[in-house]
This record gives sequence, structure tokens and C-alpha cells, in this order.
Amino acid sequence: METHLAHELDIAKTGWERARERSVSSLRAYVLNNLAGELREDYESAVLPTLDEPPADGVAVHKAIRPRDAFRWYSSLRCTAQELVWNSVIDSIDRQAGFLEARAAELTNDASRTDGSLELNADLELPDYYKAVDVHLMPGNYEGAADDAGVLPGAVYDNGFNVFAFGAMGKEHNDIGWSMANFTKLRFPDLDPAVIVDVGCTIGHNTLPWKAVYPDAKVYGVDIAAACLRYAHARARSLGVGAHFRQASSDALPFDDASVDVVFSSMFLHELPAKHIARFLAQAHRVLKPGGVVINMELPPNAALSPFDAFYLDWDSYYNNEPFYKNFRDQDYRGLLEAAGFGRDAFFESVMPRYTYVPHEAFAKVVGGTAEFDEDTGRLSDDIQWYGFGAERQA
Ligand SMILES: C[S@@+](CC[C@H](N)C(=O)[O-])C[C@H]1O[C@@H](n2cnc3c(N)ncnc32)[C@H](O)[C@@H]1O
Repeated sequence: METHLAHELDIAKTGWERARERSVSSLRAYVLNNLAGELREDYESAVLPTLDEPPADGVAVHKAIRPRDAFRWYSSLRCTAQELVWNSVIDSIDRQAGFLEARAAELTNDASRTDGSLELNADLELPDYYKAVDVHLMPGNYEGAADDAGVLPGAVYDNGFNVFAFGAMGKEHNDIGWSMANFTKLRFPDLDPAVIVDVGCTIGHNTLPWKAVYPDAKVYGVDIAAACLRYAHARARSLGVGAHFRQASSDALPFDDASVDVVFSSMFLHELPAKHIARFLAQAHRVLKPGGVVINMELPPNAALSPFDAFYLDWDSYYNNEPFYKNFRDQDYRGLLEAAGFGRDAFFESVMPRYTYVPHEAFAKVVGGTAEFDEDTGRLSDDIQWYGFGAERQA
């Protein structure tokens, strides 16, 4: 696993620190590959045969599997690995805090640079749901308050994500952005976006590929977390990409009615309570021009999955401080968009391979199809990684 980040906010780490990151990544990979396989095997061979009838949904699978040692080992080690993801990077970041703040400030304040911009809003109220938990066990959460100096929470996210993803998200952790932007281009060939907005952009890793795919568009990243946005702006500058970062809530997007061509989100909706999902989608509908597109990369809905797979994905809701994850995945995604004002027929969904891992032609084959799940297991098939859904804004 590569422990360096591909931009100038990369920090010096000792050999021991890099070894620690790699061993945590390996532990996570072992849990998610080997132990997850054993968990399924135990369920199928030792739990299912003892039940009077097969579980109807993920909740019933969870209830049946909880007493099993295989489940306890899996859950315990997965929680531990998740805590270690963050712990493995925090010491290095603390030690390099001075360097990080100084380098970020240089990039941000460089008067010769006119590419991109950063606007924070010190008056923005952070919602209670946001302050209540350290989501996915990340210490301090995303640090939303604009009066918090600095970029360190962005660095924790970036370095931690590198350990978490064990290389599976692309060199700049941006495969989702590449995949969704290319999907949009293939699916809507006549769309020539002037304004693209990534909502819940965190450190802008999946925002920047939109600028590469649509170089003439003005690309915005919106988030509630000031510290992540500061980091995102400096990171984008370091990578030479002109993107504009705004601190705002998805409840009130800072764009005029009918002024945006693409509203994108990635791994965002499952971190919102239901009423904020509804508000965000209504905002997307409001700001989109007719013919504009909202596209959300997310985890697939529970209704599309087998009970075991629904349980498997909902694990995070119970054990990984993702309180809204299951509730979101229990929803009918088409219905959510319809309630926000999008036409029922305007809905689309698709599964797709990771764009940066396959030839463009192989990727292009998925476009136009609907989401397909393996008939036997309900899983997305092995070579398919991402699921996206959305709608076109009709006139
Ligand atoms: C899981 S992260 C998104 C990850 C990122 N989009 C990606 O592609 O990996 C969720 C982000 O949503 C932000 N967020 C949470 N509630 C928000 C809200 N109401 N408005 C805007 N951003 C919000 C958080 O600060 C966090 O950065």
C-alpha cells in the first residue's frame, strides 16, 4: 500500500509510522475479505439450517447471527480496525501540524493563483445530528465550526481514508468522482454543464475529477465542515485544479434557482437523517436547470439485496457510528426523488465498474442499463463496484 499522498499536503512519517499504517490496512483487508467470507459461510452452514424459516430481511439475519462466535470475531476486529485507521495517522499529523498549516496557508493565500476559491460561513449553524456523533468512529468528526483554525481534520480524513481504503479508491481517492462524472457524460451526451456542484464534498477528492471530465464547467464543492474545506482548497491548488469550495448546508444550497447543471453527491445521503435527505433533494430540484441532472453515488437499497447482504451492509449502522445508514437504505430511492419534485420517469440508476481500473470501453458498456444484482446472492457482481442513482430535472 502507498502511504504517501499524491499532493503537497503529504507529510513526513517515520518508517515505523508507515509500517503501522500498512499493518492496519492489512488487518482491515483481512477482516473484510477473510473474516467476512467465514461469517457468510457460518451463517449458511450453521445458522440458516436451524431456523424454522429463512429470515425475511437484514434485521432478522442480524438477530439470528448475533450469538455466533464468527459474528463476534468479525465485529470486534472490524471495530478495532476502524479505530486503528484513525489512530494510525493522528500522531504523525499532530507532529507535522505546523508544516501542514503553513503549507496549506501558502497554497490558499498565494496571490499569484486565481484558480479556485474558498468561502467559509462563520454564522452557519451546525445541525444537532452532526454534532451528536463522531461518524464512522472518526475522532472529532469532520470539525464543522468555521472558527476552528486549521486544516488538521482534513488531514486526518485524507490520511485515514488512505489506510481505510487500502488502495481501492484510486491514487487520489477519486475513483468515485471519475466514475460518476464519466457515467454522467455517457448517459447524458447532450449535457454541456456550465456549473457542477458536489454536495458533502469533504476534502474535494471526488469533486476534482468533474473538472477533468468537464473542463469548461465551474466546479463547486459544498460542505458544512470548514476544516475539511480549507484542506480541500489547498489540496486542489496543489493538484493544479481550479475548484470552488463553499461552506453551506445541503438544507440551503447557496445557488440561485435553475442555475446549476449537475448536482452530485457521493457517500453523502447515508449520513443524513431522513428529513435532511428530503430537504437536500428538494434543494437539488430547486437549483437545477431544466435538463440538469442530480446524481448520487450511494450504497444500494436494501430492497435490491438478499437479507444477508442487507444485514452485511447495515452492520455500519449498528457498530460503526453510522446512525442513519440503515434508514436511508430502507428507502425507495425513486420515491425520494419523486417527493422532491423529480418526475417518476426521470429516475435512473446504474451499477458500474471503477472507472480508473477498467478500459473506457468496458466502462461505457454499463451505461443505459439498469442496476443489475446477482440473482442468487443479491450482490453486485464482483467486477462491479459503484452504484449511482438520480434523475433528470424536467422542464
Ligand atoms: C461521508 S462524507 C462524504 C464523502 C465524500 N463525498 C466522498 O466522496 O468520499 C459526508 C460529508 O457530508 C458533510 N455533511 C454532513 N451534513 C451536511 C450538510 N447538511 N450539508 C453539507 N455537508 C454536510 C460532512 O461534513 C462530510 O464531509
